[in-house]
Amino acid sequence: MISRSVCFRNLLQSLRATSSSSKIGCYYGFSSQASSSLQQMCEPSIYRDDDYADLDWDNLGFGIMPTDYMYLMKCSNGEDFEQGQLNRYGNIELGPAAGVLNYGQAVYEGTKVHRKEDGRLLLFRPEQNAIRMKFGAERMSMPSPSIDQFVDAVKQTVLANKRWVPPPGKGSLYIRPLLMGSGQILGLGAAPEYTFLVYVSPVGNYFKEGFAPLNLYVEKEFDRASRGGTGGIKSITNYAPGLKALTKAKNRGFSDVLYLDSVNRKNIEEVSSCNIFIVKGNAISTPAVNGTILPGVTRRSIIEIALDHGYQVEERVIPIDELIDADEVFCTGTAVGVASVGSTTYEGKRIKFKTGAQTVSQELYSTLVGIKTGLIEDKMDWIVEIE
Ligand SMILES: Cc1ncc(COP(=O)(O)O)c(C=O)c1O
Repeated sequence: MISRSVCFRNLLQSLRATSSSSKIGCYYGFSSQASSSLQQMCEPSIYRDDDYADLDWDNLGFGIMPTDYMYLMKCSNGEDFEQGQLNRYGNIELGPAAGVLNYGQAVYEGTKVHRKEDGRLLLFRPEQNAIRMKFGAERMSMPSPSIDQFVDAVKQTVLANKRWVPPPGKGSLYIRPLLMGSGQILGLGAAPEYTFLVYVSPVGNYFKEGFAPLNLYVEKEFDRASRGGTGGIKSITNYAPGLKALTKAKNRGFSDVLYLDSVNRKNIEEVSSCNIFIVKGNAISTPAVNGTILPGVTRRSIIEIALDHGYQVEERVIPIDELIDADEVFCTGTAVGVASVGSTTYEGKRIKFKTGAQTVSQELYSTLVGIKTGLIEDKMDWIVEIE
């Protein structure tokens, strides 16, 4: 059986070889005005497989860079997603009463693809993101793409934007799948129509600190999530409320915010966009996922790598006092990778942790990056190669 991504590559090749007026994946689901503007954008890719976009690959940060294509798929409430298409990257049109704009009905995902030395493109556990989106969609009363549809859309979007995947060692292509209530609704309720889209952007380091250790501010005024809420899913509604605390911390010279549980403000939960681990001797601990903490794909992978390396790993409640007493602290996430924490500041007191080459986080990070970039054997079967 020929996979859809292979079909897509053949399509791209034949389009390059033939008519320059052919169209790829023009999407007609938006309003007539939007579809005509999308139609204008739908031209065949003129790029060869070995082309690179004209970028300063040595200085990638973590920002949005418009690429060539995005993927779009729509369905009505109560129905299943069926068929999506690639479109030229560009704006989308939403009615003012779209569910996502008024009631925040949306979840998103984040994953990455790396280019191996031999040119192969490697995804990392994309089905885990698909599963998490499904779980999140259910919580937010939305239909969601199937696991296969999700992974296929990710593959197609990456292939169509291949020239934006950084050269080996220079970064990765960040992939952002987004599912939203795009239909209009006035009274509070589930939107009548849903849009799943995937866009990408080449990225380097998430933090401006680069690989320098992070300085976290332990937040005591604002909470990230509460029991029974949506902290355990990647709902878009979880993020804007954190901007106030993040801005306050950044203005004071901190890298990010570490949140505590909202009931007692006593136990550590997670950082704005990543999970947290503490190291004490041979034991590595991370807060258990209980509905208020995002079950990170990186978090799970680091737990499995740490167990494989012979560490004792515990997922449990971690009081802030224990963090203060830790040898080492680090954060994990797709965007941030494995970032070592140099200090945390709690109630005006700065506590420092071990950082540098001989740390547990460095050891685990090397293995994770090695697997992601194809330099270390993928014993766990985590890598999905795009062919
Ligand atoms: C709040 C939060 N915690 C943790 C993570 C890390 O999750 P993952 O490792 O799946 O990227 C993210 C990023 O997605 C996040 O937004």
